[in-house]
Parts: sequence; C-alpha cells; structure tokens
Amino acid sequence: MLIQALLVERFTQAVKKLGVENAPIPISKSTKAGFGDYQFNGAMALAKQLKKSPRDIAQLIVDAVDISDLAENCEIAGPGFINIHLSKSWLAAQLMLANADLRLNVSKQKSEKVVVDYSAPNLAKEMHVGHLRSTIIGDAVVRVLEFLGHDVLRQNHMGDWGTQFGMLLAHLSDKLADNQVASTALSDLEDFYREAKIRFDNEEGFADRAREYVVKLQGGDQQCLALWEQFIQVSVSHSEEVYKKLNVTLKNEHIMGESAYNDDLTPLVDDLMARGIAQEDQGAKLVFIPELADKEGKPAVYIIQKSGGGYLYSTTDLAAIRHRCGNLGAQRTLIFTDARQALHFKQTEIVARKAGYLTSEQSYQHCPFGMMLGKDGKPFKTRTGGTVKLADLLDEAVDRATSLLASRDLSHNESALANIAKTVGIGAVKYADLSKNRTTDYVFDWDAMLSFEGNTAPYLQYAYTRIRSIFRKAKVDLESQSAEIVISNDNESALAVKLLQFEETLIVLAKEASPHLLCTYLYELASLFMRFYESSPILKDEVTAEIKASRLSIAALSAKTIKQGLSMLGIDTLEQM
Ligand code: ARG
Repeated sequence: MLIQALLVERFTQAVKKLGVENAPIPISKSTKAGFGDYQFNGAMALAKQLKKSPRDIAQLIVDAVDISDLAENCEIAGPGFINIHLSKSWLAAQLMLANADLRLNVSKQKSEKVVVDYSAPNLAKEMHVGHLRSTIIGDAVVRVLEFLGHDVLRQNHMGDWGTQFGMLLAHLSDKLADNQVASTALSDLEDFYREAKIRFDNEEGFADRAREYVVKLQGGDQQCLALWEQFIQVSVSHSEEVYKKLNVTLKNEHIMGESAYNDDLTPLVDDLMARGIAQEDQGAKLVFIPELADKEGKPAVYIIQKSGGGYLYSTTDLAAIRHRCGNLGAQRTLIFTDARQALHFKQTEIVARKAGYLTSEQSYQHCPFGMMLGKDGKPFKTRTGGTVKLADLLDEAVDRATSLLASRDLSHNESALANIAKTVGIGAVKYADLSKNRTTDYVFDWDAMLSFEGNTAPYLQYAYTRIRSIFRKAKVDLESQSAEIVISNDNESALAVKLLQFEETLIVLAKEASPHLLCTYLYELASLFMRFYESSPILKDEVTAEIKASRLSIAALSAKTIKQGLSMLGIDTLEQM
C-alpha cells in the first residue's frame, strides 16, 4: 500500500480541475499528531500562479479533491496547508488486506537488474570491523531489493590480487617447506601477515624473493598460482565463517574477486588507448579528467597502468563495470565501501561513461559509509590498539548476550538459551550499525546496543516475542488471524497508518540504499504497538469477542511486519526470549 502515491494521484486530479497541469504535488507525512496523517503543502506555490491567497487555493483544492473514500476530513491550517486525516474504516480495510497477504500487501516493483558489490574483504588480512559495515549494510539492501522484486546480482569484489601477495606467498612457501599445511599456517591470517611483513622489512633477501613471486604470479607461473590458490582457499573459508555467524546471504558463488578480471585488463587498456581516451605519460597510461580539475584548472589524473606495466585497483574496477554492465546487463550498480573511496568511484564512473562502458541508462551508485568509532571517538581498536577481528567481535557479542540473559533469570534450557543469545547478540551488533545513518561515523557501544530499551535489536525482538506471547495466551494462531478489524481510537489509527507505511519505507530505502530508514520505521512501529497495547487491552475480561478479534488482528499484522522488517535487516526473531 502506497498511501502517499495514492494521495498524490487524487490531488493531481484536483489541481487539474483548477486548470493547472503538471504542478508539483507535495504530499508528505505529517510530523505532528495534530496535523493529520499526511499533509499537502502545494497551495502556497499555486497561489502565486493563480493570483489568489494560499488559503483560498487550499479551499478550492479541498472542495475539488475526491478522497472521501479514504479520508474522513481535510482541514486547512496555517498559511494554506491541507491536513489529511485518513478514515478509520479505510485504514481498517487496508489492514485486513495486508493481513490476508503473505507479502503484507507490498507489491512488487518493475524488476530492475541490480548489481550489488559489497563485503569485498582483502584476503591478505583477516576480516575486520571495516568490512562489517559493508557486509551488513549491503546485505540488508540486497534483501529489500529482492523483496521488492528486483533481480539482484551479488558481487563480492574480494581483494585477492596485488603486490602484497608476493610477500605472503614467499612466506607461505617457506612454511609449507617446513611441513606445515596451509590451513595451519594460515589459521591466523593477521599473525601470518604480520610475520611476512616483518620478514619483508628486515630479512636479507626476502623482499627480493617476494618481488620475484609477484612477477611469477602475474606471469601465470603454475607453481606460484597453486600456492596462491591455497592461500585464497583458506582465506575465503575464514570469511565464509564470518558470513555464517553474521547471517548474511553471501555465498561462494558470489565471489568475483579482483583476480577474476586479470585477463580483461590488457585489452581494456588497449581499448582506452586506441580510442584516445587514455594516453601515455612518462611510461604510465592514464586518463585525464578535466571534470575534476583542481583550483588551478589542472585535470585529475586517473592511472590505469603503471610505468612498470602493473595494473591498479582502478583498472580492475573499470573491467568490473564492463563485465557487469556489458555481460551481466546491470541497469543499476551499488557499491558499498567506506567514504574514503568516494573520489575513486567518482573518477571511475566518469572514465567508464567516457568509454561507454556505462551508458546513460545505467546508474552507478557508490554508497559510502562512515567509520566505526570506539567510545573515545577514535577509530575502533582493541584495548592494545590493534585492529578488531570481526570474528572475535561477534563471539564477544554472543558472550555478552549470554550474560545479559542469564541476569534476567529466565527458565530456558541450555540449548534454547544459546540460540537466544546468538540471535540477540548478533542482532544487536548488526542493528546498532544498520540503525545509524550510513554516511556518518558512529560510536560502537556494547551497553547501548544490548539494551532492551531504545532503538535496538533487543527492544524489537522483545516487542515481537511479547506479541507472540499474547497469542499463546489467547490460544490463537498469529499467522491465520483474519478477523474483521474495527479501529476505535487514535492510538489504533496511529498504529494502522504506520503499518501501512511499510511499503513506502522500503521503496525509499531501496532508492537511497539506506537501511537505517527501516530501523527507524520498525522502532516507531514497535513503540506505537506498545502504546496501542496499553490503551487497547486484548486479553482482559471486559473486552468483547469482536473487539478482541479485531485487536488480535492488528497485533498479528504488527508482529508480521516487525518480523518481515527485521528479516530484511538479516536479523532473526524468536518465539520466546
Ligand atoms: N577490497 C576493497 C576494500 O577493502 C573494497 C572493494 C569494493 N569494490 C570495488 N569494486 N572496488 O577496500
């Protein structure tokens, strides 16, 4: 259900009746309870055009607009706002439609082919918190896009290639020569990397061997590739473990790492050179970008091949665009990385458009995110100042949730408790991240995220189980609740309007790639549910059978919406907790 779009349609007709075509029809959700549910605030602009006072125009529109089926009243406020109060019977009818529908009456959009590039850890190292954000924000957007009917192609653009592999392979080959197996040698990638780096910096001859390995690897040397493959395999399985713990939908088949483009790089550079888009400059090949000139008017420089012949991150990203837009037919590409890469993607897009790898119908959207900070406001680190491994962070989340639940002293058996702790702990970490506007930095705070109060996963999970328990007590099946709904007070209608704004929220989220919109929505929904439940008791004796059934239906839809919403954030719900 798209209330706003419906209102825009009706008001467009009304404004047409005043003789104005193509006027903007600004309809928004009202921000205050007294101002109705939606507001039209286009009268002021029309007043100038029609040379009448805004309030007169507003009155003419109110007289002309045909919305008696869905609104019980339109009042003119202030200088000429039109406050629209949706009718209780219409709201009730819409709730029943949503309740009877497995998709909660969210329709499928015209399907678009969308490439979503997310997670993309660098395999030389252990996954760290920086990749948490990309992984879970990307995954939430993917789930919403799919729910809305889009054809999503996940692309895990892993950093599995580059000069640092020379050092790693030289070190690995020594370990294997020492009779270690790869999985043992690489059981801690962070340590492994550190050791290799120390040798690279200090050990006589090691740096040269590392460089030889790079040359051999790039030259396609079989032995070297076999060693590299072992490294990649172990490293990929580390990230798979993290994905599993995190409950994200990324699978092996979505990996399309940097190395997958190796064969495309030479022809790509040749193509750009042949068409005069790139040029040679001191042995390097580059594209000048006058669109991004500096203050003196000097164009930005985008290098696609180094003077020694090596290719770069940028070359691979151009090849990726060519593959995704050309071979896969992506109409839209979304890339989730931290904000520091913004300039790179801006330049990449300009070059790709110049080259025609991206057509004007194909969009390319870098979705930047801010940093995760510690409580001290500095980049999040371990107590000793090291990078925090994602796997450790997630284990700690589950541990903390376990103690939290133990302090609540609930009678669950051990395996039930472990499952609840996992669901709450992982949910809390994910939600704390997803609920923040992605473009800003945010402070990682265990206590806040594990609180049962406020905009947190535990609060929403608890709201859900609370509704579940109402149904258990009422001995009614939540899923098959389809009674006649009658909306009898303002708290019920406020909840109803919120429930019917689910689809609107998802559509804006899909457009802006911003999952926090869904978090805010769910938090508001759960809060309105709590208020509804206080003012509209369900299980009390004095409640008649009809009213009880109606309220149970509203509660059922609330629960289903919370569950569906959380599941699109990759967060599970529990029957009991
Ligand atoms: N591996 C990169 C990093 O860790 C992210 C890759 C993002 N995707 C891309 N197409 N460049 O920063």
